Amino acid sequence: MTHLPNVISVPVPQGLRPRCCEATCRVVSNTPVNGEYRLLTLEAPTEVLDCQPGQFFQLLCPAPLGEQPFLRRPMSIYGYDKAAGRLEFLYKVTGAGTRGLATLDAGDAFNVLGPLGQGFSMPDAWQHLMLVARGVGLATLAPLARMAQEKGRKMTAICSARRPELAMSVALFESYGAEVVVVHDQDGSSTPEALRPFIEARIEAGQVNAFYTCGSSRLLRLLQDLGARHDIPGEIAMEQQMACGLGMCQACVRSFRVGERVIQRRVCREGPVFSISEAM
Ligand code: FES
Repeated sequence: MTHLPNVISVPVPQGLRPRCCEATCRVVSNTPVNGEYRLLTLEAPTEVLDCQPGQFFQLLCPAPLGEQPFLRRPMSIYGYDKAAGRLEFLYKVTGAGTRGLATLDAGDAFNVLGPLGQGFSMPDAWQHLMLVARGVGLATLAPLARMAQEKGRKMTAICSARRPELAMSVALFESYGAEVVVVHDQDGSSTPEALRPFIEARIEAGQVNAFYTCGSSRLLRLLQDLGARHDIPGEIAMEQQMACGLGMCQACVRSFRVGERVIQRRVCREGPVFSISEAM
């Protein structure tokens, strides 16, 4: 791998993930994958590739013409491969930061800070997994599916999108051994009302020990209800606007229900992965 300079280790407080780094990566490719999403592939130094599924990076996006994004852009990891020195992000152009991201070309230098936050867990008791995600939330669950395959877990992935052709990562989930079910808005199959009987049938067949989700509050509420009724745990990667991404500014604080109490947590530091039952 080409030598990449400028790797700066950033210490973090005790009890949380031990280290993140600011590093200069090199763009390998930055290409559209469908009408809405683009895949950014970076050549990255090994220091930033000790990642967990569900973690994110703070990206220093280039300024698009006539705009000046002030903050780094948080983005969940789509793929990472320490042996190959590769780091991937799947994104949709929605604002100044991602507009700048779309201007990157192969060979460009690109500054990232991470990996940040707490990723997904996968206890031994969780043998039959159900992944339910929508839109770009599917990108966040992609590395989780790889971890599930490595651990020999059985997996069903429900991929929700506005239109069938926008359901991302279907082939990727299948390559990790998942049974993939695509649901979409055009035929109404993506509504919670339509999904509930499908998921309940799987639960009754003993095929669900745990849920994972990202990308839709309606899906979150459905899984919270099913989880409470059938005593099934799970985790959610929360999407939240951030500023520092390091736990200092409190811009990302959200409320969580823990037992009878409502408490505040920073999504960037205590999350972005939380228990489904505690998310509000
Ligand atoms: Fe600053 Fe979370 S974004 S504390």
